[in-house]
Amino acid sequence: MANSKPRVLATRLFPPDVEARLTAHFDAVLNPEDRLYDSPSLTKAAAGCDAIMCAAGDSLNAATIAALPTSIRMIATFSVGYEHVDVAAAAKRNILVANTPDVLTDATADIAMLCLLGAARRAHEGAALLRAHHWVGWAPTQLMGTHVTGKRLGIFGMGRIGQAMADRARAFRMQIHYSNRSRLSPDEEKGAVFHANPDDMLAHCDFLSINAPMTPQTRKWVNAERIARLPKGAIVVNTARGGVVDDEALIAALKSGHLASAGLDVFDGEPKLHQGYYDLTNAFLLPHMGSATVETRNAMGFKALDNLETYLLRNQTPPNLVTA
Ligand code: DGY
Repeated sequence: MANSKPRVLATRLFPPDVEARLTAHFDAVLNPEDRLYDSPSLTKAAAGCDAIMCAAGDSLNAATIAALPTSIRMIATFSVGYEHVDVAAAAKRNILVANTPDVLTDATADIAMLCLLGAARRAHEGAALLRAHHWVGWAPTQLMGTHVTGKRLGIFGMGRIGQAMADRARAFRMQIHYSNRSRLSPDEEKGAVFHANPDDMLAHCDFLSINAPMTPQTRKWVNAERIARLPKGAIVVNTARGGVVDDEALIAALKSGHLASAGLDVFDGEPKLHQGYYDLTNAFLLPHMGSATVETRNAMGFKALDNLETYLLRNQTPPNLVTA
């Protein structure tokens, strides 16, 4: 008997509970070795599929989307960010695109706080000293970092994750400044200082946290001019998208000492990050782990499946549809 379930190509190896539900409801084409598809192999693997479940790092650009088989009706990304999917190109082909907002807010804000603390308190240098067996004991001047409690934190992009970061920072009695496309309500603002022009916020940032999505407008937003407006000794944290930062400018400021340090979980062109970061002791670097908890990755997968099931099995509009 012919398999009547819609066929879904999973571009990556997803968590076991997610794949269990995927295979229960769909004729799933899995990727157990977690091979990375390039555009030709992706379009080939998608032959006969109704949908693609992809992830951050897959490039579903206009050319790839144009080459997809005509059977593809939906792209469900296992991510909140969807800059890797050309939504306009998908719309031209009547392919729906859906993402996984909300469920990774807390995990990502936790990692943002970890990056802030790790950068401020020289966690990477301390851990490296100890693991190299070079630690000879406590010393009054050893690994002195930047105090966090009570300092000013500027948040560029006060959406769900920016607000969750602000909540965490308030526990450190930090004074919150923020810039966002629209001002939050007083209830959401919780006393944070709004800057309609993000450039005006920079002089108030002992810490600057990037929580804005990657768009043509935010590309390389953290550039040399803006870094120069930050107070000397400021710390930059990025857990959004690497492309929001001009790497050359950030590395130059970390080398010159204008910035004390940076805490980065995301990189332009990742996983091939700018070589300059490897040489900096004042950069606390993580490999894009913002959403990497079992609970969060399962929730992301279930949300991607909600989108796929709503459209492919019930022929209804997926709950997390994104548009260009
Ligand atoms: C997302 O969902 O956009 C994250 O960056 C992946 O963890």
